[in-house]
Amino acid sequence: MKLSFAIIGCGKVGTALGKHLARSGYPAAGFASRSADSARRSAMAAGAAEHFFQYAWEASLQADVVFITTPDGAIADICRDLADHGGIREKTVIFHCSGALPSTILSTAKARGAYVGSMHPLQSFALEQAGNPFDHIMMAVEGDPEAVHLAQQIASDLGALAFVIKTEGKTVYHAAASVASNYLVTLMSFAIKLIAASGVQESEAFQILRPLVNGTLTNIETAGIPGALTGPIARGDYKTVADHVAGLKNLGPDLLLLYKTLGRATVQIARAKGTLSADAALEILKLLD
Ligand SMILES: NC(=O)c1ccc[n+]([C@@H]2O[C@H](COP(=O)([O-])OP(=O)(O)OC[C@H]3O[C@@H](n4cnc5c(N)ncnc54)[C@H](OP(=O)(O)O)[C@@H]3O)[C@@H](O)[C@H]2O)c1
Repeated sequence: MKLSFAIIGCGKVGTALGKHLARSGYPAAGFASRSADSARRSAMAAGAAEHFFQYAWEASLQADVVFITTPDGAIADICRDLADHGGIREKTVIFHCSGALPSTILSTAKARGAYVGSMHPLQSFALEQAGNPFDHIMMAVEGDPEAVHLAQQIASDLGALAFVIKTEGKTVYHAAASVASNYLVTLMSFAIKLIAASGVQESEAFQILRPLVNGTLTNIETAGIPGALTGPIARGDYKTVADHVAGLKNLGPDLLLLYKTLGRATVQIARAKGTLSADAALEILKLLD
């Protein structure tokens, strides 16, 4: 028999989690949210319409595993509320799903004898989502050993793959996820602005760049970093970099600064690849200063 679960905070993640935990055979025991409507809707999505509660501690009391899936800023207060109202049984496992916060923010539950952990699905959730959003995604887990063990089992049952991170590394882990996802958007926006400035229709820019980006991702997968790095900096082609800098001067200081900052980081990778000599690196760094 699988452990029963409660969802506190019935938004995008809480509703998806409840629905797919129920589909994976976990008994849905309690749903609570700021509004009764959200809790009811989420309970219905999990096929457990009768299991929604007005108070979070009533819902948590029913379950072996409790997921606090409210916005990050409310998690610690809600956990304290559950503890203060006797809503946490000994050996209950309490999780939150924040990427940025560690499991230690659930210390009030731990003080009541619960095991605490965090499970962060590396996925972007929408309220109405077709299919299983946990299928084949990665999930970062950390916390008490009992919680981590259970999180790995739950992730696997949902179709995801868990990987364990250190509690103290949580913030930097989340920064990594932001760089890989959010900053990729920023990087593409930069490239699209440049290609549009070259005279190509901005509406066509993404489709033109996409095969190049896909190819680079494949190269990183197969050759790794620094092996995947190509281009003028990797080749030590001073003249081309100088032309880029001259060309970008007309496009405003922000784009030039971004080009130079990324270029300096690229010099380090080219040095590690071994295709850029120390002297050529110094010359290019002067251009990018
Ligand atoms: N969205 C994503 O793509 C994503 C991805 C990975 C991780 N996460 C993490 O998952 C967690 C939930 O994010 P989300 O995107 O699902 O947020 P969300 O859609 O805004 O849902 C949060 C829910 O919490 C409820 N809530 C707010 N304050 C509450 C309180 N004091 N007591 C009880 N319920 C309260 C809200 O209630 P009502 O509807 O009842 O007003 C809302 O439905 C966060 O920790 C977030 O960092 C999100």
